[in-house]
Amino acid sequence: MKKILITGGAGYIASHTNLELLKGDFELVLIDNFCNSCAESIKRIEELSGRTVKFHQINLMDTQALDAVFTLEPDIDSVIHFAALKAVGESVEIPLAYYTNNITGSLNLYQAMKNHGVRKIVFSSSATVYGDPVTIPVTENAPVQATNPYGQTKAMMEQILIDTAHAENWDIAILRYFNPVGAHESGRIGEDPSYPNNLLPFVSQVAAGIREKVVIFGDDWDTPDGTGVRDYIHVVDLAKAHVKSIEKLASSKGVHIYNIGTGRGYSVLEMVKAFEDACGHSIAYQVGPRRSGDIAEVTGDTNKAEAELGWTAELGLKHMVDSAWKWQSMNPNGYKKISTS
Ligand code: WQD
Repeated sequence: MKKILITGGAGYIASHTNLELLKGDFELVLIDNFCNSCAESIKRIEELSGRTVKFHQINLMDTQALDAVFTLEPDIDSVIHFAALKAVGESVEIPLAYYTNNITGSLNLYQAMKNHGVRKIVFSSSATVYGDPVTIPVTENAPVQATNPYGQTKAMMEQILIDTAHAENWDIAILRYFNPVGAHESGRIGEDPSYPNNLLPFVSQVAAGIREKVVIFGDDWDTPDGTGVRDYIHVVDLAKAHVKSIEKLASSKGVHIYNIGTGRGYSVLEMVKAFEDACGHSIAYQVGPRRSGDIAEVTGDTNKAEAELGWTAELGLKHMVDSAWKWQSMNPNGYKKISTS
């Protein structure tokens, strides 16, 4: 059974990936510092999968604790690296925290991998590295031109990995996610942000009456209805791309970079309307000013992932919003227990 170390292992995308991996012949070792996740998600994936996972609560900034995990868990076959701060707006406000946490944390991980002879890694990157691409759908050959500190950290982590792979003969898969949304069909795991920076968790909390209204960041973009267009991908489809990548690295050497999206864009207004269909009532919104750093439209060309990973997104918009609403409805407080007092 292959042992996989998963950083940020209690997080939104990691928990859905863990579930897919646990269907296969993999033993999982999760590490997380719970800065944007909680232990409950680990408990729930064990319930859902009927399998147990190993867990170590550590911070990637703690090199001794990180090294100890690799010593405690010999024979790690590969790593999936999710752990990172990931809010674009926040990264503009506190760039030093983003560079320190994302870059130094990754450098510590890569050094520990080198020290312990672990040579395979799947890296959670982002379409944000493309900035405002000239051509859409964007291909993996498009220039890396991040326009915010969060995107810069992802671009730097990619480059550090690529250079290390060439020097140390590592096999790596860099997955550039578009916009992950939705939740597992059970409604037992989902996105539980401390603050909903992204569109769908915000819309979901308005639909649940937790927040008053959605502010649409501009309706004067050069798009069909004037609101921003993004390539939303169901988190379960995204999770499956990680399993395909682990399998790819078992037989393919070197550096592999893939866009993980659907190639189909939806506008903010289309997402709000779809969510109204999911929750069965209207969702209050008002149009506000554009958000700094935003772009009009970005969608991903995913032909390379289809050809080389044998992966393609299968779940459409209805699955995305229905599953997100099911998670929200079943977990109004996210993973936090509803206080009975
Ligand atoms: C989507 C659309 C907004 C909130 C970022 C990162 C990406 C990934 C996802 C980490 C845009 C509009 C949003 C709101 C709005 N993060 N919007 N009102 O900025 O496309 O991508 O988050 O993996 O890497 O770059 O996602 O959900 O913030 O915005 O009108 O309250 O919704 O303008 O058009 P984004 P988002």
